[in-house]
Amino acid sequence: MNSEQILKEIATEVSSCTMCELHHSRKFAVPGEGPENSDIMFIGEGPGFHENEQGRPFVGAAGKFLEELLAKIGLSREEVFITNLVKCRPPGNRDPRPEEVKICTKTYLDRQIQAINPKVIVTLGRFSMNLLIPNAKISNVHGQPVQIKGRLVVPMYHPAAALHQGSLRPVIENDFSQLPRLIAERDSISQPQGDELKDEQEPKQLSLF
Ligand code: URA
Ligand code: SF4
Repeated sequence: MNSEQILKEIATEVSSCTMCELHHSRKFAVPGEGPENSDIMFIGEGPGFHENEQGRPFVGAAGKFLEELLAKIGLSREEVFITNLVKCRPPGNRDPRPEEVKICTKTYLDRQIQAINPKVIVTLGRFSMNLLIPNAKISNVHGQPVQIKGRLVVPMYHPAAALHQGSLRPVIENDFSQLPRLIAERDSISQPQGDELKDEQEPKQLSLF
């Protein structure tokens, strides 16, 4: 199977998945969308109200802001892969639980990352950050790229957080403005090897630039 077929297969599995409790309350599961050969992948937290209604990621207010942030660096949402840590909406937008994150990411997100093999992963918010960079505090590390097995992971604030807390807006804008340079720089380091979500990953394996 090529990457496009793998992503389609994953989306089909997600749409009828019952592997964790979140399937009970969802309307539509949200697998994520974008080109299979995208250089950059955005990982949000989980579907909200509008995403659950439409089965598409980041289509509410946070999505509109994400599109604005992308436009400022010359990108459209069609050019990047956008997905979430968990694919079904946590009821009332509660935080996703550790066991839900574990099941969903091991079953789907891990395979999406392998298939797309992006140069840069941008985590949006602390939950997706902590999957890849355990124990990090977003206020300390936002905008600072970490190299994980040849791939750059750039933790950023969640766009919804910046909408609710105005002082974060210039911070997230500044972090986004670095992305074109980081993507270009990533071309000069070694090929990604995948496996970034495996259990043996420890923070000590990471090196801050
Ligand atoms: N917030 C998220 O984390 N993901 C979405 O898809 C929408 C809002
Ligand atoms: Fe399946 Fe993930 Fe939805 Fe849980 S959140 S039911 S694991 S797709």
